Amino acid sequence: MNSKLDLLSPNGPENLPLFDRSGLLKAVLGQFRISRHGVHGPSHWARVRSHAFTVGKATGADLLVVELFAFLHDSQRENEWIDPHHGSRAAEYASSLNRTFFDLNADQLDTLCLAMRGHSDGGIHPDATIQSCWDADRLDLGRVGIKPQARYLSEEAANHIEQAYVWCLQ
Ligand SMILES: [Fe+2]
Repeated sequence: MNSKLDLLSPNGPENLPLFDRSGLLKAVLGQFRISRHGVHGPSHWARVRSHAFTVGKATGADLLVVELFAFLHDSQRENEWIDPHHGSRAAEYASSLNRTFFDLNADQLDTLCLAMRGHSDGGIHPDATIQSCWDADRLDLGRVGIKPQARYLSEEAANHIEQAYVWCLQ
């Protein structure tokens, strides 16, 4: 397996706060209602996680929040197509898991929830952590045949469009 697709590998920046990554992934997968092999499944989460670390390091984002976004933002989808409330449900779900698998303070949890609620609205956000989450998700649009566009990305993320596009088509 491509090691970048191993969701359990630390594979992230040094000094990332420790959390129960394995317990969290088991819980998320245990309740996941759509295909694990679909376009919103774990291979998408892994690419989003990798992009989130790359972009987040460049933008100064909170790297724990961006990693949790990768694991959780599509966790409450009920279908692969139009599901406008999946981000809000993911925010509720993330709140219910805090202090069990990870420890976010109130500001971090607010940021994660805002990122998840708005992640499919197509906006740009001034907060580096929120925008890094959205960048990471958008950089993986090639998997559904859409080439990411720089105007929907931070400058830091726009540098990775070509590389990300090739990766998700592999
Ligand atoms: Fe996503």
